[in-house]
Amino acid sequence: MLILSCPSKLRLLEGILRKCLPQTLVVHGAVMNINRGNPAGHEVIVDSWPNFKAVLTRPQREVVSDDSDFYANVYAAFYQDLAVYQNLVLNTDAVNWLQRFRIQGNQDGIYRVSKLAAAIKNVPLSATSYITYTHSDPNKLNEYQLDPGFTVSTLNASHVDLMDETWAYGGSEQSHRYLASLVQHFFSSCILDPNGQLISWCVMDPLGATGVGYTLPTHRGKHYAAVAARALSIRAHTAGYPIYGHVALSNVHMREIQERRGYQKLPELCHICTHADVQI
Ligand SMILES: CC(C)(COP(=O)(O)OP(=O)(O)OC[C@H]1O[C@@H](n2cnc3c(N)ncnc32)[C@H](O)[C@@H]1OP(=O)(O)O)[C@@H](O)C(=O)NCCC(=O)NCCS
Repeated sequence: MLILSCPSKLRLLEGILRKCLPQTLVVHGAVMNINRGNPAGHEVIVDSWPNFKAVLTRPQREVVSDDSDFYANVYAAFYQDLAVYQNLVLNTDAVNWLQRFRIQGNQDGIYRVSKLAAAIKNVPLSATSYITYTHSDPNKLNEYQLDPGFTVSTLNASHVDLMDETWAYGGSEQSHRYLASLVQHFFSSCILDPNGQLISWCVMDPLGATGVGYTLPTHRGKHYAAVAARALSIRAHTAGYPIYGHVALSNVHMREIQERRGYQKLPELCHICTHADVQI
């Protein structure tokens, strides 16, 4: 295995991954962020170079000091040869099995290898499959008018408490810290009411996905989420990021919204494999 740290090789890798979109979405997003200042402190591992068959991105060891933090310890994966990927995950130092972490990607083999690893290494696994939606040009998304006094803005540190309280996976020191890092480092968008109070929001993650979408229950159905998502997506699209996000199979409401709005559904599910003793 190799840690790819040379900037020109990382740019070359980004170009190669871009040609394999959408299957490479999560790894490509991570590499884009690495190549643009690396705000989350991630690094790239390949089985070999330049003819790599498997790629993993992960936080640098010195960046995430808390081994129990499966929010910050997020890996992205892509392979061209499943056997090579399996070998990279199981038989090298690419994955730190002493940590609690998440590994994700839009290929079935990612789940299969995590399942195998859980059995062989006797580590826990909670895996969830998500539908990935993409949009090729967010400028074409419907434009909705906000009610008078409501404004579009970007998230800041003062918003993190509410985000964490309302997030389905929130409510811990680690989730709060994770959301704070997203807000600090990545594109975000939100809607504020006439008093400047936060009512709807979304934010990009270290893998370039748009997520954590939420509207306060009393304000739903007024297209605030649509306005926030469009604003974030246009900023990210202008910066060259592919626009994508994951929706849980069980979240029928959100799936219907995405499909009505013209997002394209990927045939491959995104598998988020959490190697930690939690159910998410
Ligand atoms: C999903 C969620 C963010 C949508 O927020 P929102 O501000 O209500 O979204 P919008 O108003 O932009 O869109 C809601 C759509 O559902 C429709 N809708 C129908 N009945 C509705 C109801 N009772 N309440 C809300 N929306 C309703 C709206 O008309 C709209 O559809 P349209 O665009 O075709 O007109 C919000 O419901 C939420 O926070 N849910 C919990 C967290 C969640 O599931 N997040 C998404 C994770 S992927």
